[in-house]
Amino acid sequence: MNASGKTRTSARGLIALVAVACVIYGCSSGPAAIDRVVRKDDFVKYQHYLDQHDQQPAEAWLAWRSNETGSPVEALRKADVAISQTENPFTPDDPRAVQLGELVYSTSCVTCHGPKADGRDASGRALMGHKDFTHSHARMVLQMNPNRLVEWYQVVDQVTASEHPTPDGSTAVMPAMGEQLTREQIWLALNWLASDQAIESKVER
Ligand code: HEC
Repeated sequence: MNASGKTRTSARGLIALVAVACVIYGCSSGPAAIDRVVRKDDFVKYQHYLDQHDQQPAEAWLAWRSNETGSPVEALRKADVAISQTENPFTPDDPRAVQLGELVYSTSCVTCHGPKADGRDASGRALMGHKDFTHSHARMVLQMNPNRLVEWYQVVDQVTASEHPTPDGSTAVMPAMGEQLTREQIWLALNWLASDQAIESKVER
């Protein structure tokens, strides 16, 4: 085989490789970016209900939803416990779910996982849950394992996750949060984490 033949072969190889990668990881840049992730009016309203409900996220959420929909809180609570814990009721490319998810994340998860979901605070210092959800390896695992969100759901709902010691030597612990959050809130926060928005927030904020 002459030199130009080799070049053609490797070019073809490259195209095939890209095609395979496209099938596995998806080649589109994903859902369009949402201009304003946490809408200010959502934030103000939710904060208002949190203040009224002793900073209890589930109670605040149900009261807010009740006010918006006119359904009684108890009916909403019942509907919430009917939400599956093993099947994601949203998708990470549903803009409204992602917006609400960031709202939950920014009030219940941000202190440990960081404003950019990379396990660091605003000045870049490693936080308690120093897992970097935006790392390319983490994104790859997420895309390749359709069950990943269900595994995550279990961690947030009922696992007290304790992993690597923090830089100051103490142990990082994530409390099981199933008692504090509605099922809807947990799924929403996870859909935000799984959305492209979570990665884009790295540059936007
Ligand atoms: C008190 C601190 C803290 C809070 C609050 C917290 N986490 Fe965590 N989280 C951790 C720690 C610590 C770990 C385990 C160590 C790690 O992976 O960095 C963890 C692990 C996780 C994992 C498992 C990651 C994996 O790949 O196995 C998920 C998913 C997660 N957290 C999501 C959330 C969500 C969503 C919220 C908010 C609803 C939240 N966490 C609130 C500290 C926290």
